[in-house]
Amino acid sequence: MSEPRKLYVKSFGCQMNVYDAQRMTDTLAREGYVETDRPDDADLVILNTCHIREKAAEKVYSELGRLRKQQEEQGRKTMVAVAGCVAQAEGSEIIKRARVVDLVVGPQSYHRLPELIASAEQRRGVVETEFPVEEKFDHLPPPTPAAIAKRGPTAFVTVQEGCDKFCTFCVVPYTRGAEFSRPVDKVLDEVKRLADAGVREVTLIGQNVNAYHGLDAHGRPAGLAELVRRVAAIGGIARVRYTTSHPRDMDEGLIAAHREIPAMMPYLHLPVQSGSNRILAAMNRKHDRELYFELVAKVRAARPDIAFSSDFIVGFPGETDEDFADTMDLVEKVGFAGAFSFKYSPRPGTPAAGEEDQLPEAVKNERLYALQALLDRQKAAFDEACRGRRFDILLEKPGRLPGQLIGRSPYLQSVVVVAPPAALGTLATVEVREVSTKSLSAEILGGEFFHGDILPRERAYAGSADSVRTGAASSAPTQEVEA
Ligand code: SAH
Ligand code: SF4
Ligand code: F3S
Repeated sequence: MSEPRKLYVKSFGCQMNVYDAQRMTDTLAREGYVETDRPDDADLVILNTCHIREKAAEKVYSELGRLRKQQEEQGRKTMVAVAGCVAQAEGSEIIKRARVVDLVVGPQSYHRLPELIASAEQRRGVVETEFPVEEKFDHLPPPTPAAIAKRGPTAFVTVQEGCDKFCTFCVVPYTRGAEFSRPVDKVLDEVKRLADAGVREVTLIGQNVNAYHGLDAHGRPAGLAELVRRVAAIGGIARVRYTTSHPRDMDEGLIAAHREIPAMMPYLHLPVQSGSNRILAAMNRKHDRELYFELVAKVRAARPDIAFSSDFIVGFPGETDEDFADTMDLVEKVGFAGAFSFKYSPRPGTPAAGEEDQLPEAVKNERLYALQALLDRQKAAFDEACRGRRFDILLEKPGRLPGQLIGRSPYLQSVVVVAPPAALGTLATVEVREVSTKSLSAEILGGEFFHGDILPRERAYAGSADSVRTGAASSAPTQEVEA
């Protein structure tokens, strides 16, 4: 038998690209490809790209330069495919600009990878960036139980793709196309398969996930709240998260779900972008700062132990010192447990890129620095307020030292504990002992693997509301600092 062909996939950008990379890997596994973590060892390299900011989009070309050099040194041609949002946005330009590329494939055509690779083997320069009418999700094969187990006890599931919001700074409506929601049963089948193979936590993802309106078995549209409720009811699923939400689509049903569904984690990523009403209007965000405050208050009333994270853009065209002060003020008032913050990056084809009052880089840098300093302080305060708290963690992977495991808190913080490898994939109740910038360390009090039950939710989270409300902070969402 011939050697299996080796596949190396590198993803940039958001969680949907992580999910897509897994689907591409699952598709190609059926064609006999096995994964490798080394590009110089691969027969096929896929770069799964992001177009959101200029820096992100340019990364693909430095990566391609590296691949070209590697191929020259090895004297061997590896098949190179560019997938993801740069593929969609730039199409055949990529083939022209980088000779090392054999195939360009947009996000809606991943189910066609095997035939596209076969054509690219015959002829370099295959480009597929149509938005096909047929539904790719129906044609993407599911992962095998072994592949699921290898990926660990948490999983992303795309439930919604595309965006109809057209914020004036954003390329996503052009790279991912119009909003589409997967039918309820398709999502439930996928989650059941994951749960059967050991997954305990699912994050439902979409560019505008709370606009979800997939059809149920009776052909009626279901909202995200109903979907979460049904996902949470699947045996084995202990935790549900969803990301990313738009403030305009945070409806009463979804807010109530935070109160009613214990499996919903008390951590909500709700991008606001700016605290200035003038800038929010110019961004076409379709809401003002007052609505954001109102939502935060309502969600906190429904789930007092909830913490928030957000996305911010500084230096949007025309942003004045007063506008920026409004953003700082919003951050002070809400108190975030984590955040991503970015300098505005003009993107080709978006309305804001054509505005005349673009801000100098120095002003953007200064504002980003000030905002990140504030968000860092809030994150540190939130983490610090977790000292002595009790909550459940999901044990996800081995720690750095023998005998250690790393779990995730409800707030996505990494928590280091002493526990045997056999406890991986189970929930444990812990008490937090030490707090550092990267992680918490904690002692196990009980849990599924350990003697004693996990704490009921009321007790586990008791007394925590204040620290969440004032301190904010935490979690994996780290800020991107653009040098
Ligand atoms: N609703 C989307 C947002 C995707 S983009 C989602 O599913 O996550 C993620 C974040 O990138 C945005 O919230 C915004 O803060 C930032 N962003 C988008 N376009 C940008 C641009 N042109 N310049 C700087 N940051 C940008
Ligand atoms: Fe982009 Fe706005 Fe859509 Fe989010 S809601 S993907 S920021 S256009
Ligand atoms: Fe980037 Fe596309 Fe995601 S532009 S952020 S990879 S949707």
